[in-house]
Amino acid sequence: MANKWFETVAVAQRRAEKRLPKSVYGALIAGSEKGLSSRDNLESFDQLGLSPHIAGLARERSLATTVMGQAISMPVLISPTGVQAVHPQGEVAVARAAANRGVAMGLSSFASKSIEEVCEVNKQVLFQMYWSGDRDTMIQRLARAKAAGVKGIILTLDWSFANGRDWGSPWIPEKIDLKSALKLTPEALSRPRWFLGFLRTGHIPSLTTPNMAVPGTKPPTFFGAYYEWMQSPLPTWDEVAWLRAQWEGPFMVKGVGRIDDAKRVVDLGATALSVSNHGGNNLDGTPAPIRMLPGIADAVGDQIEVLLDGGVRRGSDVVKALALGARAVMIGRAYLWGLAANGQAGVENVLDVLRGGIDSTLLGLGKSGITELDRGDVVAPPDFYRSLGG
Ligand SMILES: Cc1cc2nc3c(=O)[nH]c(=O)nc-3n(C[C@H](O)[C@H](O)[C@H](O)COP(=O)(O)O)c2cc1C
Repeated sequence: MANKWFETVAVAQRRAEKRLPKSVYGALIAGSEKGLSSRDNLESFDQLGLSPHIAGLARERSLATTVMGQAISMPVLISPTGVQAVHPQGEVAVARAAANRGVAMGLSSFASKSIEEVCEVNKQVLFQMYWSGDRDTMIQRLARAKAAGVKGIILTLDWSFANGRDWGSPWIPEKIDLKSALKLTPEALSRPRWFLGFLRTGHIPSLTTPNMAVPGTKPPTFFGAYYEWMQSPLPTWDEVAWLRAQWEGPFMVKGVGRIDDAKRVVDLGATALSVSNHGGNNLDGTPAPIRMLPGIADAVGDQIEVLLDGGVRRGSDVVKALALGARAVMIGRAYLWGLAANGQAGVENVLDVLRGGIDSTLLGLGKSGITELDRGDVVAPPDFYRSLGG
């Protein structure tokens, strides 16, 4: 049998492309409108160089840290993604892999597996919410998360309901019934290994969102949940502060790009923020988070834990983000490629690739641990940074 281990995330992505039906792969690539932001997320990391030492290097390097009160073995977390059809075990496989590698996991409210199933196998779950539903519904969701053992909340605020992609969005059925199954059959049959993986479990992807269910009712479909979210009045900063006050533990706001917004997030008493543009899936033209990070870290980094997500594909990307002021990063597509390529083992493989890359970058930079990194370790071209709302 072919060796399933892969040496970089790019290799995992190529395997994912071969393995997944075209529309499922397309939904992961995503990128809104023209794809300017999703491209910039990747290209901006390429524009950053590193400043190496060649002797007097540290024999051992320490990667462990804490984020939102959770001790983690390296400065990487699983970013929440609403994935419905990548792998039959979905978020449960990701949660097991993360637990095995000592990494905390963000679980999307649009996930295909329930909070309870995921918390069963990972004791470091952060539950992600959107501003969706009325106050009672949100309080119910917080209570359910607490009862399941969730350790913190991630509130994602960057979403503007854009629905056009120049490359053509993949078709996602409302639910899998006979009609949609027939329409999807040729695609599924073109990827027999993926299809068989689901058939073996006796389930086809159900495209439902169990964490958006009102207690005692059936989980809504993805579109049902999306509709609830679209209909919800948009929050003021005071309402965001209200939600934060409903949760006693650590609380992150994800999707920050501007310094003035970062200050507001500090004011409402959040524990952490993530500098993010939703992986380039939201407002196209938003700069890559790595460009916005230093301004935000300078402004609020001593008052709140500053994370970054968007475009992280290798260990050196993680090191660059830490050197520019992040405490840790969150990864999205990187682990989805691993999950598609080889299930739980594929996600572990991705985390191992990142760990190895962080470690060797630290070695090359002459550092004995992630806390020694600073801006001098990174070479940025003129005009690289973007300070928005400063
Ligand atoms: C397929 C897909 C689904 C996503 N779903 C969610 C979600 O449900 N909630 C959320 O906060 N972010 C979601 N994101 C954004 C990720 O959490 C993260 O911000 C982004 O993937 C980071 O960029 P990267 O993929 O380049 O690592 C999603 C991203 C992708 C690619």
